Amino acid sequence: MERFSISMEDDLLEKFDRHLSRRGYSNRSEAVRDLVRKTLVDEEWESGEEVVGVITLVFDHHQRQLQEKLTEIQHDHCRIIISSTHVHLDHHNCLEVIIVKGDAGKVRELADRLKAPRGVKSSELTATTTGRRL
Ligand code: NI
Repeated sequence: MERFSISMEDDLLEKFDRHLSRRGYSNRSEAVRDLVRKTLVDEEWESGEEVVGVITLVFDHHQRQLQEKLTEIQHDHCRIIISSTHVHLDHHNCLEVIIVKGDAGKVRELADRLKAPRGVKSSELTATTTGRRL
């Protein structure tokens, strides 16, 4: 087994440690290994395989042009979007929930693109395969 060190902002590490204690991890290494495994499993989805899922975005309502950007990205992928719902969370934040179904590669590409713009505070793709080949 190899060892390596990770630099992390204090507040992020604090949140991570709270997450670990809630999940019952006894050390950070095991938690990081689990995160890496999860990421790799997610990446194993191949193009040609159908997935269904939800993309959950929280973003800054005041970030200039952000809403327009996110809408434009969704229009570029409208074939795999079944539905989307926008919730005005509070004065600053919006929540958008996008239900997707389609080629795994395209779903991932959409999720990645929605993550990128400045002002997107969190973006999460939760999905599962349907077992269907496209
Ligand atoms: Ni809103």
